[in-house]
Amino acid sequence: MSTARMPSASTSTGASPAASTSAGAAPAAGAAPAGARPRNDIGQYDDLSDEWWRPGGQFAMLHWIARARAALIPPAGRPGAVLADLGCGGGLLAPHVAGKGYRHVGVDLVSSALRQARDHGVTPLRADVSRLPLADGAADVVSAGEILEHVRDVSTVVAEACRVLRPGGLLVLDTLADTALARFVAVTVGERLPGGAPPGIHDPALFVNRRLLRDLCERHGVRLELRGLRPSVVRMARWLASGRRGSVPMVPTRSTAVLFQGRGVKL
Ligand SMILES: C[S@@+](CC[C@H](N)C(=O)[O-])C[C@H]1O[C@@H](n2cnc3c(N)ncnc32)[C@H](O)[C@@H]1O
Repeated sequence: MSTARMPSASTSTGASPAASTSAGAAPAAGAAPAGARPRNDIGQYDDLSDEWWRPGGQFAMLHWIARARAALIPPAGRPGAVLADLGCGGGLLAPHVAGKGYRHVGVDLVSSALRQARDHGVTPLRADVSRLPLADGAADVVSAGEILEHVRDVSTVVAEACRVLRPGGLLVLDTLADTALARFVAVTVGERLPGGAPPGIHDPALFVNRRLLRDLCERHGVRLELRGLRPSVVRMARWLASGRRGSVPMVPTRSTAVLFQGRGVKL
């Protein structure tokens, strides 16, 4: 099976290369002050590069969601199986899939994030998820965690995700729905609350239409099943009361109107 090709030298968006990967709360060199960039500006991930693995940091909820995503991924069915992690960020999925037998390939535009992913065992590929440097059918599993709500052309990214998935392979994803409730919970409230997303990280105009997403996947041979996801309220309250120590389990919900997971096998 073919695996990752190295991406071409540079990419089309404004991800600046290399910031710090050291621990601590100081912003990366050249980082913009919080809120200074436009919504969804990818440079924010450079500004926040010290947050990826900081316990109780601004990406804490991404860790909890990554754990819930990994629970959807079975152990590899064959030696050399590839898990393609689209928009891998700092590689938060890595510890949860480490024992499952995959070669974990992470695609992202931000070099400071990719370096941290690499330090956690991920093979880094600097590329745009709308033009994956992977051969058709290269991946046994494609993971698209918290990325679809950040891209301008969701149909191209879904087409790419399905293209690189081999027949019988598994697509797993999680994202935010394009509902008023999601905009209120994830942006109006979530970006103001401790434990919520960093301010300005989302552009609510990019939140994902669930019917469109299922139709797009179906068109590319993947019948997607959706279910809602939310943090355990009791554990979240405990986490906040304890000074943000430990982690909070994500629990399934009937409603997919805010955060939801998708899972489907390619025909
Ligand atoms: C919210 S973070 C999610 C990171 C990771 N999937 C997780 O759940 O921890 C979104 C990530 O997508 C990356 N990203 C955004 N747009 C991208 C694009 N067009 N191509 C590749 N990566 C992109 C960002 O750099 C960032 O690391």
